[in-house]
Amino acid sequence: MAKSRIEHVCGDCGATHTKWAGQCSSCGQWNTLVEEVAVASAPTIPAAGPASRIGDVDPLTSRPRATCIGELDRVLGGGLVAGSVTLLGGEPGIGKSTLLLQLLAAFGGTALYVTAEESAQQVRLRAERLDAVRPDLWLLAETALPHILASIDDTKPDIVVIDSVQTVHDPALGSPPGSVVQVRGCAQQLVNRAKQRGVPVVLVGHVTKEGSLAGPRVLEHLVDTVLSFEGERHHALRLLRATKHRFGPTNELGLFEMVGHGLEGVPDPSELFLGDRRTGIPGSAVAPTIDGQRPLLVEVQALTTPAPPNVPARRTTQGIDSNRLALLLAVLQQRARIPTSQTDVYASTVGGVRLAEPGLDLAACLAIVSAMNDRPLPADMAVFGEVGLGGEIRQVAHTPRRLAEAARLGFRRVIGPRSAPDPDDAHLHLLRAATLPEALAAAGLT
Ligand code: TYD
Ligand code: MG
Repeated sequence: MAKSRIEHVCGDCGATHTKWAGQCSSCGQWNTLVEEVAVASAPTIPAAGPASRIGDVDPLTSRPRATCIGELDRVLGGGLVAGSVTLLGGEPGIGKSTLLLQLLAAFGGTALYVTAEESAQQVRLRAERLDAVRPDLWLLAETALPHILASIDDTKPDIVVIDSVQTVHDPALGSPPGSVVQVRGCAQQLVNRAKQRGVPVVLVGHVTKEGSLAGPRVLEHLVDTVLSFEGERHHALRLLRATKHRFGPTNELGLFEMVGHGLEGVPDPSELFLGDRRTGIPGSAVAPTIDGQRPLLVEVQALTTPAPPNVPARRTTQGIDSNRLALLLAVLQQRARIPTSQTDVYASTVGGVRLAEPGLDLAACLAIVSAMNDRPLPADMAVFGEVGLGGEIRQVAHTPRRLAEAARLGFRRVIGPRSAPDPDDAHLHLLRAATLPEALAAAGLT
């Protein structure tokens, strides 16, 4: 008979401690330790397999199979690999269930959707909306792991989705559903089954802003791929990235738009971001940015007002890192003599994109100065470059791709770093600026 004992498990990193403490000594987070019942069972050692020469291993068995959802295949580097386990994390309501139902409908073959949160009727209703009602799509509304594993063995699917791993529980583990011991234990058994059967399994994991019930971080080392699905709830745009991927690169970005009949891929994001742009307005600058491998033209907007006397100036950002904005304002003040310290600054990217990209620095600076001087930038001008603490404009990666994207969307002038190579497009004029004052002059702001 298995013996149980009490242990304290960190809800964030999954480290176990014998005593409770305010701070997890493993990851340094505060107030994340929870008491759990650990079942000490005899370890089971799987039968040993023979070692093989590396040249004899068949690489074809881990070739990905396309999911037929273009943006998902882009992020996965081709598709899903047999026997692989993918964790799809994201805040509730972002569209994880929608994406996966669309995946099951598109993948082909027998698919099993295990819904441990919603009823089968709810899933059926959503599937109708997504046009995903297929004869070989099987639904199981179940939370108990042994029944789920039995159903995988019965149905013999070509792909399995578990929605979500936090609501699945194994009665043999003792702890309450949603606890770290349960989530980790259930995920491990699902991983084993995926490898045994050679079937790709996708697990949904909820992440909340405060850190989830049992943070998907405890699962990261168990699975092959971790995808994160992000976006602003009030915007239709959704961004998909791989933060861990055993079968390909992790720097690809997938873009979707949530519409009335599910998620639609966005093959041309720049067009979407600049769709509602009004030209000739002060406080706006367009930057050719790169996210992963993808060029995105993004509009940065700024609004400035004089700060009331004796009150610290306000700085509000959306889509831009607030520390980065503070740094850029200090550089503008010290290196370009722009009086930002007594100015309230509101800066945002348009369309709900969150970007942490140095190439955006110059656009943010020019948008702020344009707002302060009440002078617009020319409508056909885009700007990019990292701004250094000395006020110098620095080179950023993938310059040719940025220039090509700006030219494609009809921009005729680009301000960039001094060392930027000539653009391929003869219609695009590159204005090189070594310093912030030179860039301000090139934009007609001084
Ligand atoms: P859902 O996939 O349930 O999110 P998650 O599984 O991540 O919690 O999707 C939630 C939102 O998406 C919901 O608020 C409604 C919206 N939605 C659409 O706008 N169009 C659609 O076709 C569907 C199915 C959902
Ligand atoms: Mg859901």
